[in-house]
Amino acid sequence: MRVEVQERFPGVYWLRFQEGRKLATRSAVPGQRVYGEEIVEVGGVEYRVWDPYRSKLASALHLGLREMPVRPGSRVLYLGAASGTTASHLSDVVGEEGRIWCVEVSYRPMRDLLRLCESRRNLIPILADARDPPSYRFLVGEADVIYQDVAQPDQAEILRRNLAAFLRPGGWALFFVKAKSIDVTRDSREIFGEEREKLGEGVEVVEQRILHPYERDHALLLLRKSF
Ligand SMILES: C[S@@+](CC[C@H](N)C(=O)[O-])C[C@H]1O[C@@H](n2cnc3c(N)ncnc32)[C@H](O)[C@@H]1O
Repeated sequence: MRVEVQERFPGVYWLRFQEGRKLATRSAVPGQRVYGEEIVEVGGVEYRVWDPYRSKLASALHLGLREMPVRPGSRVLYLGAASGTTASHLSDVVGEEGRIWCVEVSYRPMRDLLRLCESRRNLIPILADARDPPSYRFLVGEADVIYQDVAQPDQAEILRRNLAAFLRPGGWALFFVKAKSIDVTRDSREIFGEEREKLGEGVEVVEQRILHPYERDHALLLLRKSF
């Protein structure tokens, strides 16, 4: 089977097969499968296929996201890390020089996340509520990127607090908005616009992607902090 590897963003690749293409990251822990993902070896290098149905950032990348703020060496604050499906790919991308503070409020996914963090030293697990940045202030430094995927009705307020506490000026936020967490009866597009308004001044929306057909009623707002 012939596979061509094309770097789409630093650390993020398209694997091109005769019958199509797959998004992937270069595995930092060869031989490790985190969520049953496909592993493809090309020229002695192991790539983990990044499933757009399991990770919202992968779906946004499949849908043509133009900027990818998480890069080798990035310091990322991840709110709603769950068991680490997406965080594991970001761990591949940021590499040894980067780090990802993974905040998760539920014990159950945290158990799996802890196991993952043992094999990936750039992932730092934090059992905490993302509504309360002061409770993890002592563990987290200044972030280049905030990734938020918490599916809560007050998701904009959660992000606003963390932007103020941790994001450096000029830093990025990947804000995954779940419309149905706010109001199940209204049109999703209206809600995405309102969430954007709630963030207030000091952040600019660089890109917006509705994640259909990979996710229902979700959008990504890619934001940049201006000051
Ligand atoms: C959709 S899942 C995240 C999936 C993950 N982003 C991924 O792609 O691998 C949402 C997670 O947010 C967590 N969560 C919800 N509210 C939270 C809060 N206030 N603080 C921290 N985590 C929260 C949930 O427990 C859940 O694990």
